Amino acid sequence: MQTSSSKLRINGASARGLEDVTAFTSSICLIDGQQGELAYRGYDIADLVEHITFEDVAWLLWHGSLPEPHNRDQLQERLCAERHLPPIVLDVLRLTPEETDPMAALRTAVSALAHFDREAEDSSRAANHRKAVRLTARIPTVVAAFARLRRGLEPVAPRMSGSTARNFLYMLSGEMPGPRAEQTMDAALVLHAEHGLNASTFAARVIGATLSDTYSAVTGAIGALKGPLHGGANTRVMQMLLALRRSGQDPVAFVRKKLAANERIMGFGHRVYKTIDPRARYLRGMLYSLGRERDAMHWVKTCNDLARVVKHEKGLNPNVDFFSAPVYHMLGIDADLYTPIFVMSRITGWTAHLLEQWDNNRLIRPRARYVGPRGLQVQAA
Ligand code: CMC
Repeated sequence: MQTSSSKLRINGASARGLEDVTAFTSSICLIDGQQGELAYRGYDIADLVEHITFEDVAWLLWHGSLPEPHNRDQLQERLCAERHLPPIVLDVLRLTPEETDPMAALRTAVSALAHFDREAEDSSRAANHRKAVRLTARIPTVVAAFARLRRGLEPVAPRMSGSTARNFLYMLSGEMPGPRAEQTMDAALVLHAEHGLNASTFAARVIGATLSDTYSAVTGAIGALKGPLHGGANTRVMQMLLALRRSGQDPVAFVRKKLAANERIMGFGHRVYKTIDPRARYLRGMLYSLGRERDAMHWVKTCNDLARVVKHEKGLNPNVDFFSAPVYHMLGIDADLYTPIFVMSRITGWTAHLLEQWDNNRLIRPRARYVGPRGLQVQAA
């Protein structure tokens, strides 16, 4: 990693929001924003989502190569074995007010998980790797448990077999998902697993670079992902789609009114992509398939109408959060769980970046150009 990269520009307006600043070298993720390309460890996202599972992607991100069959078995065994939550963490969720934002509940629960992990403060590479697996196994259990508790239902214990996608949908509803639902959720997890130096990953690396621990870095990353300009957008997209459906308002008039009021349309625009986000392209396909299968093509129509008018008025393309929202909705999932589902997947990218950071660590400490007053003096009263 080279934090002192020659491309770092901190003094000009061009660095606002650190736009186009290259802060590290990394071998985890390639994004070509002009061409709309995304690859994890050299494998194009379309190839990955068509051919391998979320668990294989997790292995790929952590180890840099695809798993051999025995690696796959080993990881599956470890993920299943780590799915249960410490009872006190379940109690924390029981005591969490039901109206709490599920991202806030998850942030607290992940922080609490550290207290029951004997390796929490062990900074060896092997322990950090085991914590990556443990968090990947437990976060879905937290999300599903809180989703049920807030509705007055008992959590469903995780199964000791099956994919992350299947087990999560089972814990959420108490019923085994069908193959289409499992495959859709698995593909969504693959698509969200990693995305370079986005805000939450950067937050994780900044925390990790102080030589703080995995749980602290992941808790901070969850806080960053929660924001509506980042992962929090998917929940807002669904709220917008549901409000449009309830009110019967014309999407074109809705967008024009929002833009006239200088408001943002959630699920559109991206700091890096100047063309369509390749993840959105794939999720749009999933929206069409589910819409046809579940007799819910009205979501396809509303999304297409919105996409057309936002492109026309602002030149913006849909991002990953735009199409994931109606896809999750058609799987019967509450809108405010979409960002926690993002965490279930992105935990793999965050922890891969932490491992990379710690392999060649340097404190991340940029500067601010001071523009305030100087030389003031306190006047004695
Ligand atoms: N709706 C309306 N206007 C927008 C939008 C939007 N969704 N996105 C950007 N703009 C406008 C913005 O108002 C500004 O206009 P002007 O120059 O006239 O003031 C211009 O585009 C540039 O905006 P910016 O905020 O400087 O650009 P950015 O590169 O920081 O934007 C973004 C990236 C994702 C924050 C922004 O596109 C946005 O707010 N989108 C809506 C929230 C969203 O969908 N977030 C999910 C991002 S993708 C998944 C993830 O990272 O989690």
